[in-house]
Amino acid sequence: MRKLKVYIAVSLDGYIATREGKIEWLTGYPNPEGTDYGYADFLATTDTTLMGNTTYKEVLVLSETFPYPDKINYVFTRDSTHIDTEYVKFISRDIAEFVDHLKKEDGKDIWLIGGGQLNGALLQANLIDEMIIHVMPLILGDGLPLFGGIPMEKVFRLTTTKAYYNSVLKLHYEKIIN
Ligand SMILES: NC(=O)c1ccc[n+]([C@@H]2O[C@H](COP(=O)([O-])OP(=O)(O)OC[C@H]3O[C@@H](n4cnc5c(N)ncnc54)[C@H](OP(=O)(O)O)[C@@H]3O)[C@@H](O)[C@H]2O)c1
Repeated sequence: MRKLKVYIAVSLDGYIATREGKIEWLTGYPNPEGTDYGYADFLATTDTTLMGNTTYKEVLVLSETFPYPDKINYVFTRDSTHIDTEYVKFISRDIAEFVDHLKKEDGKDIWLIGGGQLNGALLQANLIDEMIIHVMPLILGDGLPLFGGIPMEKVFRLTTTKAYYNSVLKLHYEKIIN
């Protein structure tokens, strides 16, 4: 079965964006050596992406051209009137059921891009297999939580860590299989 993987960046206090949805603190963070934080290697392990509609809209604002044209891209929304585009399919069916089925199909792994609401719904449904989390060395004090602020308790196993020269810390977690 293919894996559902989070690959994301968070502030030191666990936020993926400011309360207003801004991520300049992330995109503008100093990276003088130009590392890609393993992004290209990660991307090559996947052929499908999942996004919440808020993240999708943000992606369209941030990028001149759609950044994942070679992937199968699903955008989750509760509004069933959205029309699919050249690059994305809108899904308004039950998220957990849809993703559970998707994981059983043939293919490479699936990148759960975010945001927090989608991450939270899929974590709650125990569908996330791996999490690669880049902890940025800055505190926002408030913002949009990594897992949507949904109360729950889930335990993962830490497999690897990597500290970058610019104080970014990459944490790689795997689901504990009982
Ligand atoms: N730090 C990072 O690396 C990173 C990565 C990804 C995203 N982000 C940021 O995260 C922010 C967005 O996160 P977010 O948590 O506010 O929103 P989100 O998860 O991206 O999207 C929320 C939207 O997804 C749809 N949705 C959520 N739960 C659903 C469900 N159970 N069934 C069907 N549709 C559902 C709804 O769309 P409708 O309103 O259309 O119904 C909802 O409004 C953005 O600012 C983005 O830039 C940061």
